[in-house]
Amino acid sequence: MHTEIIEKLANTHDLTDDELRLLINERSDSDAALLAQKAAATRDRIYGKRVFMRGLIEFSSICRNDCLYCGLRRSNTSAERYRLTKDEILSCTDEGYALGLRTFVLQGGEDSAFTDELLCDIVSAIKQRHQDCAVTLSVGERSRRSYERLFEAGTDRYLLRHETADEEHYGRLHPKELTLAKRMRCLNDLKEIGFQTGCGFMVGSPFQTTDHIVSDLRFIKEFRPQMVGIGPFIPHKDTPFRNMSAGTAELTIYLLSIVRLLLPDVLLPATTALGTISENGRERGIMAGANVVMPNLSPVSVRRKYLLYDNKLCTDSEAAENIAQLKKQIQTTGCDLVTDRGDHISKT
Ligand code: 5AD
Repeated sequence: MHTEIIEKLANTHDLTDDELRLLINERSDSDAALLAQKAAATRDRIYGKRVFMRGLIEFSSICRNDCLYCGLRRSNTSAERYRLTKDEILSCTDEGYALGLRTFVLQGGEDSAFTDELLCDIVSAIKQRHQDCAVTLSVGERSRRSYERLFEAGTDRYLLRHETADEEHYGRLHPKELTLAKRMRCLNDLKEIGFQTGCGFMVGSPFQTTDHIVSDLRFIKEFRPQMVGIGPFIPHKDTPFRNMSAGTAELTIYLLSIVRLLLPDVLLPATTALGTISENGRERGIMAGANVVMPNLSPVSVRRKYLLYDNKLCTDSEAAENIAQLKKQIQTTGCDLVTDRGDHISKT
């Protein structure tokens, strides 16, 4: 067991790459339990036992990209494609507001129909109707000018996972027109412009090694994002990657704790993907230091069409209509699901 390393991480919020590598390679149940306990205590110190909700609106399944791991990749001709209208998106936010959601995450493929003009119009309409709400965009790589416009229109936050901080690994997961350098340019622009910015990666993605994960953690520590999205890679049947590595849920939960301790004030979701591969996965993520959940607010008619991976949950407690059920599940962790924008608290 690595008590000393874990205590160093909990006290100094950093480790050397060698220590991180050791902690990951020699992971044990007792290490996981100690990390989870320290991570939850660190979260409590900053945010209290409060879990924030983000209403996820998956507004377009049309994507120009061809990421090899994603069910929405351009070459997947079996995927059903849709895009929501502005009015449909606004209905989702109205419904979400009534359910107590105070952050809306608009996520979609890289769909050129959503020009700066249209997205800005949608964001300002949401902000006008729901002045006490935050709007997060998750619409991929765009120009700096475009990000500036979206920020000026009132967008508060932006999610763009870096996917892997290792250039060679990035190349094996993406077509050649997508590069890590471009992804990093986008992330730096977003943070400079003033968005609360989120990066993140998949756990157990094809070809991923411990060294890759160490690079991801180092990048996260240095970039200091306000949000980090970490979820298990889950294969999609119509992509080239069909296998899932064993123990991915446990490793994901372990890494959630490490990220919480590296960046004590980070907003950290227990993802729907984690809930998909593991019974009580989201609850276990919360107990390991996560403090965000993202109920699905997409219209029921399209919910089964936004399929990044197989067997994605969308009708149970991950559906925004079932917040009462979600609330009960979160209570089992000793935390409270709250109605709050849940902005980042800066402790530096
Ligand atoms: N399994 C898990 N996560 C996936 N994503 C894309 N495809 C998959 C998959 N098969 C994640 C990526 C992306 C986010 C929107 O969804 O990390 O950034």
